[in-house]
Amino acid sequence: MSYIKFDSSKLSKFVHENELPEIQAMVTAADEELRKGTGAGSDFRDWLELPTKYDHDEVSRIQRAADKIKSDSKYLITIGIGGSYLGAQMAVNFLHPNFYERKNQATQVEFVGNSLSSSYVNDLLNLMGDDDFSINMISKSGTTTESAIAFRIFKEKLIEKYGEKEANQRIYVTTDKAHGALRHEATVNGWESFIIPDGVGGRYSVLTPVGLLPIAVSGGNIIDILNGAADAQNEYTDPDLEKNDAYRYAALRNILYRKGFTTEILENYEPNLRMFAEWWKQLAGESEGKDNKGIYPSSANFTTDLHSFGQYIQEGLRNLFETVVKLDAPASDVTIPSADKDLDGLKYLEGKALDWVNTKAYEGVVLAHTDGGVPVMTVHLPDESEYSLGYLIYFFEVAIAISGYLNGINPFNQPGVEAYKTNMFGLLGKPGFEEIGKKLNKRL
Ligand code: PA5
Repeated sequence: MSYIKFDSSKLSKFVHENELPEIQAMVTAADEELRKGTGAGSDFRDWLELPTKYDHDEVSRIQRAADKIKSDSKYLITIGIGGSYLGAQMAVNFLHPNFYERKNQATQVEFVGNSLSSSYVNDLLNLMGDDDFSINMISKSGTTTESAIAFRIFKEKLIEKYGEKEANQRIYVTTDKAHGALRHEATVNGWESFIIPDGVGGRYSVLTPVGLLPIAVSGGNIIDILNGAADAQNEYTDPDLEKNDAYRYAALRNILYRKGFTTEILENYEPNLRMFAEWWKQLAGESEGKDNKGIYPSSANFTTDLHSFGQYIQEGLRNLFETVVKLDAPASDVTIPSADKDLDGLKYLEGKALDWVNTKAYEGVVLAHTDGGVPVMTVHLPDESEYSLGYLIYFFEVAIAISGYLNGINPFNQPGVEAYKTNMFGLLGKPGFEEIGKKLNKRL
């Protein structure tokens, strides 16, 4: 019995029972491409065995760095964009109670460098005031503009507050082991640094120091996360669709895609899973959207979005399918209280648990959307623990890699992200991009 239960029982209207056996040969081929490295992008498969083969000394160093940061900093300013921050923020949000940062006197993990918003930077500086802080700069290439600008701003603040010598003790860098400007700067200044392994791309890096240091500073148990992922690694190895839920999910979304269900909505019924959807959107979108094909990844937060574009899901263009991440046992529950009078019409719910109501809403939505022509699958997450999160991360990582190979693309590159950078550099007048800039300015 799987730790994470994958439920595709509501797909019978959309996927004929023969279709899974029919796609098995393709899945077996995709599995071979992934496991044997015969597929495109084979240099970027080291995440596959990361949970069982991680560097134990480095993880101990992460724990020690996290302890130091917790003892001397009110804020850890975590700088990174895309795969260099989404996993960390997703995990920090998921593992802690909602509003925890408003109550918590412990070190707060704040994220910056994932936009070019001046208001955001100023708002964060205002929040920090004169409080103690450290910086975790995360960039594999070391040259990403958004994060490099943020690093400059916050590094200057750090030096202004502590002087160069102490500032150097408060900068933690997560980057490539040998290459890039950041690696060089770290060596020159003696900053504590952590390695993003060569064979792990940004969107697959949450279980490396990219995610682990911020998570550890927030108080999350990173060993438990790795243990959950390790058990998932062991579980999702068999290419047989009868025995591998992650592969079955990949196969079913591919079958649906080929029938015109080209948009997938990842849904939750828990606010602390919202960032999980953001992480998943990057994983799926950057991995699969290429060569003019791929499932478009989107997300919805229920029940609130049922009161907005829930209308579209129920009755709009029929190119949607849904994958729900359903938390089966929330960390705590609430009983709906009794009242003398039934003025709000809720008597029938008195004494009921709020999570039971949430689950009934989920069940009702699944049936309504299925009736409306939207295929729905569910990934049941047992609880809000680190172990469960690690398991879930690995489930989606391996499923998306198989999905990419099923669709005949390289799931591990991202050539499309260069186009905006080239234009931005041209318009910013970056040396080497002047001619592009001239052409673009004429078009504006
Ligand atoms: O998944 C990816 O590879 C990207 O999203 C990168 O993580 C992102 O562009 C940031 O790159 P870097 O870590 O080099 O700053």
